[in-house]
Amino acid sequence: MTTMTTRTLLVGAAIVGLLTLGTSAQSGNIQQAVDSAYEQFKTLKEGKNADYIPALAKVDPNLFGIAVVTADGKVYTAGDIKTEVSIQSISKVFTMAQVIQEQGPEAIEKRIGVDATGARFNSIIAVEGVRTVVGTGAPEMNPLVNPGAISATSMVRGASSDEVWKKIIGFHNDAAGRQLTVLQDVYKSESDTNQRNQAIGALMLAYGYIKDNWQQAVDLYTRQCSIGVNASDLATMAATLAFAGKNPVTNKQVLEAAKVPGVLAVMATAGLYDDSGKWLYHTGLPAKSGVGGGIIAVSPGKFGIAVVSPPLDDAGNSVRAQRAIAAISNQLGGNPYVAARKE
Ligand code: DON
Repeated sequence: MTTMTTRTLLVGAAIVGLLTLGTSAQSGNIQQAVDSAYEQFKTLKEGKNADYIPALAKVDPNLFGIAVVTADGKVYTAGDIKTEVSIQSISKVFTMAQVIQEQGPEAIEKRIGVDATGARFNSIIAVEGVRTVVGTGAPEMNPLVNPGAISATSMVRGASSDEVWKKIIGFHNDAAGRQLTVLQDVYKSESDTNQRNQAIGALMLAYGYIKDNWQQAVDLYTRQCSIGVNASDLATMAATLAFAGKNPVTNKQVLEAAKVPGVLAVMATAGLYDDSGKWLYHTGLPAKSGVGGGIIAVSPGKFGIAVVSPPLDDAGNSVRAQRAIAAISNQLGGNPYVAARKE
């Protein structure tokens, strides 16, 4: 009885959210949901900054910013939405999207795969033990773990490292709607300490996932992970994916609409690594985390959301970002698996 009542309430709340999102009357609802999550989680102290990249350990753990971007390009915010953190693994989504845009979804599926590995994001055993799909020989990996991401970066076409970089940063700029820059201290710190990713790059070449110059791929990957972003940039990037590849703030078509569902599917499968299943179970949202403390999440057709808060859980996902996004999305009816019921 209690369960039924709770469930009825939850479904009811989701339907109210669905019905009320998208007209100007509910600007207030969205702002209220953002403010209330900020108040609720600002004192939460769980988790710890990443420290395997020394520069990340120095970032203020109290930094906490939330942003939601809707179809009309409105940005709803709370907390610190100005301070930049490094984008880290969230960049993997946009480099994957760029390769899909340029070479089609099958290029990623065949070379890297679109399956969960169930392993940590920088697992080397996952490369050694990768299974292949019977018939096609495609690996069961994905572009959101480090080995797949370094391979995806290696697939961006260009005659020189500079040319490839211009394309990568250009795509990120378009999704964020402004000129982004690399946080040089993070880039240097990670370049000095990324021997594990270098090993992964060499191994990916040995197995033929990377065709040549793994050193360039690892360097460009490290640089893309060091791009500086704030919560508002990240929410705009999420919103670009929420609205069929068109940035709702600048109105620029960044990614072909037909290419967006594949990107979101990989995010749903592997965006929070070995905790992706739990995340999807509770929110239904395709999302991506970064060890800089950001998480983006996408409610297709409704909103893009991002939270920045550096302390991470054991899987490498920001603790406050997960809690705040889940609370806001559930309040706004963001779960795409919740259908409005016909009475
Ligand atoms: O390669 C690394 O280890 C980092 N540049 C990115 C890892 C990351 O963000 C994992 N995300 N949660």
